[in-house]
Amino acid sequence: MPNNEFGDFQTPIELARALVSTLPRRQWTRVLEPTCGVGNFMSVIGEHHSDAERVGIEVQPEYAAAASTFGRVITASIFDFDLARDIEWTSAPGPTLVVGNPPWVTNSQLSVLDSANRPARVNTANARGIDAITGSSNFDIAEYIWIKLLTEFADRPTTIAMICKTQVARNVLLHSARRNLPVTGSSLRSIDAKKWFDAGVDACWFVVELGPGMPDYTAQTYPTIESPHPTTRIGVVDGQLVADIDAYERSKQFDGVSPLMWRQGIKHDASSVMELAENGGPRTKLGNAVDVEQDFLFPLFKCTDVYRDKLNDVSRWMIVPQSHTGDDTAQLANSAPKLWKYLNDNAAALDSRKSSIYRNRARFCIFGVGPYTFSPYKIAISGFHKIPRFRMVGPYDGKPAVFDDATYLLPFEDPATCAVAYALLTSEEANDLVAALAFWDSKRPVTKKLLQRIDLRAIARETDRESVRHRALSAHPIADSIDQAIDFFRDRT
Ligand SMILES: C[S@@+](CC[C@H](N)C(=O)[O-])C[C@H]1O[C@@H](n2cnc3c(N)ncnc32)[C@H](O)[C@@H]1O
Repeated sequence: MPNNEFGDFQTPIELARALVSTLPRRQWTRVLEPTCGVGNFMSVIGEHHSDAERVGIEVQPEYAAAASTFGRVITASIFDFDLARDIEWTSAPGPTLVVGNPPWVTNSQLSVLDSANRPARVNTANARGIDAITGSSNFDIAEYIWIKLLTEFADRPTTIAMICKTQVARNVLLHSARRNLPVTGSSLRSIDAKKWFDAGVDACWFVVELGPGMPDYTAQTYPTIESPHPTTRIGVVDGQLVADIDAYERSKQFDGVSPLMWRQGIKHDASSVMELAENGGPRTKLGNAVDVEQDFLFPLFKCTDVYRDKLNDVSRWMIVPQSHTGDDTAQLANSAPKLWKYLNDNAAALDSRKSSIYRNRARFCIFGVGPYTFSPYKIAISGFHKIPRFRMVGPYDGKPAVFDDATYLLPFEDPATCAVAYALLTSEEANDLVAALAFWDSKRPVTKKLLQRIDLRAIARETDRESVRHRALSAHPIADSIDQAIDFFRDRT
């Protein structure tokens, strides 16, 4: 069982072997395994480089004792250690490898455990740097260790190769670029963390070269440990992290500001009341028919429906009791007595909504509602799914579709403009930009911020009119006003 306080997942020897075999073939003279546990990496390195001087650092004495079979182990906390100064190497300086698997734990998890196993944050410039990058004090301990290693080994050529969360590797690249650390190249190979560590995170084998050459803050990414060739390059461009540098090079002229405002779907935190199934009319989850005024019922599609294109039939309804979050829902007593009774009969679920956003608001209020909610045509995309799929959605029997809050949308009054927006968003240009900016291992890879960066105007100007017209017509057969709609995007300033 891993020990939480120490972020303790020992690397299986078979995995350590596979990872070490991807390293550049060099005659390592010095090898350090920080936080070495039982010393699996020291052991594997010894199989091929028995001459290399091997040093480990480990805080738990039993582990340190076990690891000492494979080299010299210092029983200490890495946080109390200056790696450049405090290790007394006996070998002459030469190719140096830092290798291992730092603890998998965040600073705030340690706070919960009331653990002292973390850096003295307030006093370290490094930790403040991490705060500045991550924007929170919930940084990963591994991230801190990476930056400590990169800073303390910056004065000599060193290869640092460690397992870490993919998110940590990205933050390390960004930090290195911002601090001008002497990184000359890196690579990132995905590891199946579920298989090897039974951990539900995206992890990788991240290898960074430190040295005097030309700085390079990009990493070749390989889909698996064994892959012979990289598929993409991630890295820092103009001070920002980019998920696919080559796609970004092709599409950066479309990275700007969307001329239209993206919106999030509706948030209500009371699906048992606000969401109804279509089954010969709207019904609750328990199957009871619900009779409320039609004007407040809208066809509902969830992000998975949008992703899977299950948009042909209405299978759910959403009750939308407001046309703006600020509306007073008490007025429904007069304007919609049946809805008012339904909401009051089911008030318990609505009254117990925990999020503070509902405090000091109308009793039955919802969020993500405004004039755009009632626009008849929409482009929708799921924020949760790992492949970007834009959909054009029109009204159902005259009623506009509404979406859950994991969906993003652009609202339109007319089908031609919506169809052209669809054509622009599904163009190769937009596709490249989304691929460049979205990190598919994030929980919500597509965000409003990302969508807002797609400059539809620039795409409309650069893309061949015929192909836009063709794709727009495939989304909606309204030939007459398509050209006007294309000009609407081209001319918008
Ligand atoms: C993810 S395990 C990896 C162990 C080993 N490197 C391997 O790959 O099998 C992390 C190790 O870091 C050790 N550790 C945690 N905090 C430490 C600290 N402050 N200083 C040194 N070692 C620490 C834990 O005891 C644990 O053995």
